Formats: sequence, C-alpha cells, structure tokens
Amino acid sequence: MAPSSPPDDSPADNGTPDDAGAATDHDHPRRSIRSFVLRAGRMGTGQMRALAELGPQFVLPYQAQVLDPSSVFGRQAPTVLEIGFGMGDATARIAAAQPQTDFIGVEVHTPGVGALLKRIGEMGLGNLRIVQHDAVEVLRDMLAPASLAGVHIYFPDPWHKKKHHKRRLIQPELVALLATRLAPGGYLHCATDWQDYAGQMLAVLAAEPMLVNTRAEGYAPRPDWRPLTKFENRGLKLGHGVWDLLFVRPPVTQPS
Ligand SMILES: C[S@@+](CC[C@H](N)C(=O)[O-])C[C@H]1O[C@@H](n2cnc3c(N)ncnc32)[C@H](O)[C@@H]1O
Repeated sequence: MAPSSPPDDSPADNGTPDDAGAATDHDHPRRSIRSFVLRAGRMGTGQMRALAELGPQFVLPYQAQVLDPSSVFGRQAPTVLEIGFGMGDATARIAAAQPQTDFIGVEVHTPGVGALLKRIGEMGLGNLRIVQHDAVEVLRDMLAPASLAGVHIYFPDPWHKKKHHKRRLIQPELVALLATRLAPGGYLHCATDWQDYAGQMLAVLAAEPMLVNTRAEGYAPRPDWRPLTKFENRGLKLGHGVWDLLFVRPPVTQPS
C-alpha cells in the first residue's frame, strides 16, 4: 500500500501472495480480480469508538440499489466520490473546505473507516458519508449514471510487479464505467507517485472516448484544493515525484 517501491508487491505492508484477492466472494461473482487485499489492521480506541458511535449515521451500507444522494444529505448539492481514501486525512480536509459539495468516500479498510469517522466527529462534517465496500461495485450498483460532479482517486495501490498490474484500479473497464457515472461537465482527478502507473493512467484515461484531458496531452499541476495525502507525504520523503491527472466529461453543447 506504500507509494514507494517496497521489497514485495503488496498493497499492504505484509506481502501479497500471487493469487491474493482472487474471487472468493460468492455473493459477487461478477468481480474476479480485486484491486485490494482485505487485511486485519489494528484499530485505535478512538477509531473503534467512532465506528460504534458515528458509523450508524455516516456509513451507508452497500446495496445493489441506486442511492439518492439528496435524501442521504437532505439537500440538492453536487456529489463527489472518492475511491480508496485510506485514513481519510485529505478527504476530511477537502470536505471541510467545500461545504457546498457532498462527498461519498469509499474504502474497504476498517481502520481507515474508523479514522475518517473520527475526523467527521471532530470536524463536524455533515457533507461526508462513507461506504465500506469495493468501489467498483459501488460505482456499478449504487451510483446513477450522470450523477457525479467529480471523482477523486488519490494514490491507488500501484501493484508494482508486472504480474500484478491487472490488479490496478485504473483499467479501461473501470474508467468506462466511471465515465458513465460522471455528469456532463464532471471531472476525474487522479494522482500517483509511481511513474509507471502514471503512464498507464494517462494512456487509459486518454483512450476513454467519454473523457477529455484538461491538460492537452499531459499531466496536470496539483490543484490547490488537493491537500497532500498520507501516502504522498511518505513518498515525497523518499524522493518520489507526483503526477496528477485531471480529465472531464465534456458538458453537452447545444447545436447552434
Ligand atoms: C495506497 S492507499 C492510498 C490511500 C489514500 N488515498 C492516500 O493517498 O493516503 C490505497 C487505498 O485504496 C483502497 N482500495 C483499493 N482498492 C479499492 C477498492 N476497489 N474499493 C475501495 N477501496 C479500495 C485500499 O484499501 C487503500 O486504503
């Protein structure tokens, strides 16, 4: 999961068997290769308390049914999805800085969910909800076409080894699905500190017919509103570069 080049190729710190994450979940047979490995992580007492006390209010259960964000948040507002928020530090700061926008963060890792709930409580964030589930299925099942104002994917697991590249989140199928969930004018913002993955992201996003690169053919500068993430900071200390990509689904233009 580290943004650096660890000795193994794991998204966690404890190694990844070659077949880890293969389809063992018989409830969801349509997904065969997952971009994560579920692992036990230590929970702090604050995170556990936040899960128990705030989870019922701020964690939306995964359901194979389209969600109505206006009934969840009790208002009409642009909705932004974040995939893989990790410990949620950047997520909470972005939500606090943009109170007119509603955010749905998706993460599979329980300590991260606990950590973000703790932040939600401390910062009094009413515009943020969490879904603890595979984001690919959340996109497919819970989010209506053309419903999102934006999608954030920050430092997704790089899956360093070539034989594991198939586990990378940014693949043509996922990007095609994601593009359908963006409203016209909506954006997709990705960042990585793994150069080889940045190249793959640029190629995959550029090849998606529903999306247009806001930076002609290249990478984007980090927008002011994206704070440094935990993994990014770790990578920067190791001397890594960072590549941001900002694509949009073009707005519908009226024929003149
Ligand atoms: C390298 S971490 C980066 C976390 C955070 N964005 C940051 O920059 O600090 C990637 C995160 O994505 C999560 N993840 C990977 N695939 C996912 C999926 N399909 N659905 C939800 N979360 C996923 C992992 O559990 C992990 O916490």
